[in-house]
Amino acid sequence: MQLTKYEEDMLNGEYGEGKAECMEILLSLGKIYDAEKMIPITSAQVSGVSYKTIGDAGLEFVVDLGQKADVELETMLNPAGVDIENWKELGFSEEFTRKQIDIIEGYESIGVMSTCTCTPYLIGNTPLLHEHVAWSESSAVCYVNSVIGARSNREGGPSALLAAIVGRTPFYGNHILENRKADMIFDVDYNFENEAEIGALGYYVGQIVNNKNPYFKLNSNPGRNNLKTLGAALASSGAVSIYHVEDVTPEADFAQNHESYDETEVVNVDENIIKDTLSSLSTTDSIPDLVCLGCPHASITEIQKVAQLVEGKKLQKDLWICTSKAIKAISKQCGYLDIIEAAGGKIVSDTCMVVAPVEELDYEVIGVNSAKAANYVPNMCKLDVVYDTVENLIDLIT
Ligand code: F3S
Repeated sequence: MQLTKYEEDMLNGEYGEGKAECMEILLSLGKIYDAEKMIPITSAQVSGVSYKTIGDAGLEFVVDLGQKADVELETMLNPAGVDIENWKELGFSEEFTRKQIDIIEGYESIGVMSTCTCTPYLIGNTPLLHEHVAWSESSAVCYVNSVIGARSNREGGPSALLAAIVGRTPFYGNHILENRKADMIFDVDYNFENEAEIGALGYYVGQIVNNKNPYFKLNSNPGRNNLKTLGAALASSGAVSIYHVEDVTPEADFAQNHESYDETEVVNVDENIIKDTLSSLSTTDSIPDLVCLGCPHASITEIQKVAQLVEGKKLQKDLWICTSKAIKAISKQCGYLDIIEAAGGKIVSDTCMVVAPVEELDYEVIGVNSAKAANYVPNMCKLDVVYDTVENLIDLIT
């Protein structure tokens, strides 16, 4: 691999043992993917934060790294295993919470921002078009590549962290323009009415394309919240890291501008496919004892909608809306938090229904409006799911 003088110096330990170790690992990774060079990055997003998913070995890794090197650039964390401000009220154990706080403090000690969210692009970690970044949460990677048009591979938590420490990542995959072109076209003859239908589309297409780049022809612009939902679903049933929507996403024109585009396979998607996929995502038709929204983490407009739906009502079951601490603070300022709490709901910050140990609480059925959550909750939390729209889920528990 061709290295700059600064990169050679880092590798040779002139900037400390920690940076040298990170460079060595990233170079090995680059060699595996035939990267010809390293590329500077402008931001990082690091998964592998929840104590539920990384355990004591992950905690040791963070503490060990913290003694050797700091991050060089804007770096945010993926959701943690608990809301560390409200863990007791939500029913999580003190032992788990202590470990979780240790992990977050370990990251903080090397300069990582201790905000834990899978939607960093909603709270200021928002790269510009064509910027190179190293992000690791799959839905965030899909969003940053597809909707923003910045460039990230689907990093693992450790590789994103190492990249943040040296400010570079190997130049391969989505960093190379050519690799961002459309591989399969999905011609969708359906007028989407809600987020559950869009999620069903993403879940269906993800299964077909795996890690190829889907190109969508839709009847209308689904909007930012639904693009967030679509990418999360694509990245959970498949390994999609970039998609394009004709006339909507910034690289859609470029994506179809290649010689073999006219021979690219076209898959037609109709109402039957959407409805069948939608109903396949529920594992039960029981009433949920917890409705959990915000996968990926809710935007302020999604929280506003929930506030409108629950205003003046008394919920009969639990309601969590997962989001970042920053969006929760805005919800408070706008009055949405008070409305939701008055109805009996909670805004849960910096964690989510998949990476939290929800299985240790007293729930059996979770209602979700995210295809990604519907895909993961039965396996990762061993609970049944009801997959539906936010309106129908709130009706079920009112
Ligand atoms: Fe985010 Fe958790 Fe869903 S990390 S995308 S809310 S599974």
